[in-house]
Formats: sequence, structure tokens, C-alpha cells
Amino acid sequence: MRTRVGIIGAGPAGLYLSHLLHRSGIESVVLERRDRDYCERRQRAGIVEHGVAEALIAAGVGTRMEREGFRHEGIELRFGGQARRIDFTALTGRSVRLYPQTEIVRDLIARRIADDGRLLFEAEASAIEGAETDRPRIHFTHDGTEQVLECDYVVACDGFHGIGRASLPSDVVRTFEKVYPFGWLGILADVPPSCDELIYAHHPRGFALHSMRSESVSRLYLQVPNGTDAADWSDEQIWDELSARFALRSGGWELKRGPITDKSVTPMRSFVTEPMRHGRLFLAGDSAHIVPPTGAKGLNLAMNDVMLLAEALVAEDRRGTTELLDAYSDTALRRIWRAMHFSFWMTTLLHTLPEDDAFDQRLRLSHLEHIAASPAAATHLAENYTGIPRI
Ligand code: FAD
Ligand code: DHB
Repeated sequence: MRTRVGIIGAGPAGLYLSHLLHRSGIESVVLERRDRDYCERRQRAGIVEHGVAEALIAAGVGTRMEREGFRHEGIELRFGGQARRIDFTALTGRSVRLYPQTEIVRDLIARRIADDGRLLFEAEASAIEGAETDRPRIHFTHDGTEQVLECDYVVACDGFHGIGRASLPSDVVRTFEKVYPFGWLGILADVPPSCDELIYAHHPRGFALHSMRSESVSRLYLQVPNGTDAADWSDEQIWDELSARFALRSGGWELKRGPITDKSVTPMRSFVTEPMRHGRLFLAGDSAHIVPPTGAKGLNLAMNDVMLLAEALVAEDRRGTTELLDAYSDTALRRIWRAMHFSFWMTTLLHTLPEDDAFDQRLRLSHLEHIAASPAAATHLAENYTGIPRI
């Protein structure tokens, strides 16, 4: 099998790249080891940055997001028993969309299929060969047979546990990592959200986040210690803990409870690979970098990476120039490191650390108070959260 761009992974990065290339007349093949149903159901991110939402709309894959997604013009910070709103639109003129990653993936898969895109499910890539040549090859297994995909370029959009990053020679790659001593216990519940905008709550018992999936489905998260097994938490314990962390001193706000339909623990990590390229092999999205989810940046970074790559591959295709491809890693890494800092900052601002003492707790409350009271401090949060247009 032969194609111009071989893409490993049908997450948001691989699917969107394949769609953008198709719009510019460049053919690609996407290899995905899971089945379609699994890809469409995997619960992950929920927030789409302003610029990414506009790009999806401009690329013709934002129709359902515009119709069914929700525009959020701010978030609530809850700490010290008080609720304080950060008004993104007043501070930056921008907003975000609440539109689940599952729906983005569904829209992109449907569109690739409608456009006769070559998207192979249950096709697992096992090796990438010849990245330093002008004919790189991907070895993969599909329908029980071993096959080879010959390409001009390979883009690994295969997530944190894929083969792309491992295929870069160890002497050219540098990695940077931070592991946090906590994770998130995330639930999906069949109950209308108890709020109109997301609530990021800091509490001495730990962080909690109230998000949503629709008018009838809520998504909530609790900070839990590393090593926590979701099965050890009963539904009642989860609701009690959430209610305690969201409680307002004045009362007058109640967390609605309902049947929990999904429960899982996500570990927290910051991770960056440099460079994101070797020869004709490029990395994009989680295959190259991971952020803790507190800043809602993982999905957005993945989409930003492939927008840069698509533009660079189109320039090479149309004009034979590799300038943008050569600049890809450095250009992408500027945004990635900004998101690394922001996600780390939001995480340490809002979570409690096992080693925290009373001094640390007071500092954190003072910092939160400053963000809530000072437009200058709030603008730092708002412009990073909604997405910095050009970096
Ligand atoms: P992925 O979505 O991981 O897609 C990679 C694809 O490659 C997968 O479909 C995988 O099956 C496929 N693949 C892997 N190896 C191979 C192979 N050898 N051959 C073929 N296919 C392969 N971000 C947020 O902003 N907010 C959140 O709340 C949030 N929650 C998350 C929860 C979890 C459990 C995880 C893992 C991530 C979460 N993220 C969150 C991060 C966000 O979802 C990711 O940043 C986003 O999915 C990145 O997209 P991607 O396309 O780069 O990678
Ligand atoms: C969601 C997840 C996040 O990490 C976040 O910061 C905001 C929303 C979500 O899953 O909806």
C-alpha cells in the first residue's frame, strides 16, 4: 500500500490532520489499532479553545459543534467557601466551547468516511522504518495479515503509549517530565449540570471540577492520591466528597446527584519530547507531549500541532519548500511550553499537595484571591485558558 502521508492514530490529531490534508488535495492513510466504536466512546477532554473552534468551523467540521456545543464566556473559581467568576470575554474578547472530544472524534470520522478517506480501524502499527530516507515505511497488522504502508511522510499521532516517540533515535531526543503525586477520579453522571459554567474548586480536602457533557449529563472530577482504584469509591462516597469540596459558606447552592455511568482515574503528568521530528517522521499531539488536564490544554495542543503540520505539508506539496516542515518542531514547541507552564500553574494553584503546610495553604488562598480581584492577574488565566492566538 502506498500513500503521500501515513498517519498513525485516529484520535483528534490524526483525524483532523487527515481531513486538513484532504481539503488541500493531499492523500493520506490513517491506521488505528482500536475499533471505531472504541474511538468514539473514549471519555476525555471537553473544552475547545476559541481559535481551535474557529479553525474547526472554517475547515467545515464545526457544524454540529456550533449547533450542539455550548459557548462558555467564563469559569467560576471556588475557594475559601466563596464563588468568584473569571469573565473571559470581558478580559480578552474570547470564549471557549464546551464540546466533548468524543463528539469531535465522531464528527471527524464521519467526515473522513463521507469523503472516501482511507481510515483503517483495527490496524496496529508495529514499526516505522526509513525515517531518514525519502520513502519511510510503516509496518502494520490488519485483518490478521502483516502489511507495509509506503509514504513520503509519516506522522505519529498515536498518543502517549504509541510507537512514534519510541521510533526517534535516543541520541537525538531529549525528554522533560514531571509526575504529580495525585490524579483525578472522573465520573459521568446522568444528571443535569448544577452550574452553567465550569467550576474549578480549591478545598483543603483537594481539588474538584464540575464540567458537563450536555443539558442532561454532568462530568465531574475529584483530586485523589496516586494509586487510587476507582472501584474503591462507592457512588455515595463520590457525591459526598464532591458536595463537601464545592460547598459554599453562604449555603444556597446544591450539587445535583444522579446515576453514575462511568468512573475512572487519570494520572497526572507533564511531559515534552524535543525535537518532534526525525527526518520524515513527525510527532503530533500526545505522542510528543502530555499536560495535566487542569488547564484543558491536551486536546487543544494536539489540534494546534496538526494545523501547523498540515500547512507545512501543503507548502511542501505545492511549492516544494520544506521551510515550514523544518520549522515545525520549534514553532509547535513554543505553544507547547506555554501550555506546559499554564497547566502546571493551574494544577499547583488549585490542588493540595501532601507536603503542604499552613503557610503554603495561606499563599495559595492569597494567590486565588488576587486572581479573583485583579483584572491583570485574571487576564493571565483568561488569555491562556481561551488560547493565545499567535505564539
Ligand atoms: P489520542 O487521543 O491518544 O489518540 C491516539 C490514537 O492512536 C488512539 O486512538 C490510539 O488507539 C492510537 N494508537 C496508539 N498506538 C497505535 C498503534 N501502534 N497503531 C495504530 N494506532 C495506535 N485533555 C483535556 O484537555 N481534558 C481532559 O479532561 C482530558 N482527560 C483525559 C483523560 C485521559 C484518560 C487521557 C489519556 C487523556 C485526557 N486528556 C484530557 C488529554 C486529551 O484527551 C489528549 O490530549 C488528546 O486525546 C490528544 O489527542 P491525540 O490525537 O494526540 O491522541
Ligand atoms: C474538562 C476537563 C478538564 O480537564 C478541564 O480543565 C475542563 C473540562 C472536561 O472533561 O469537561
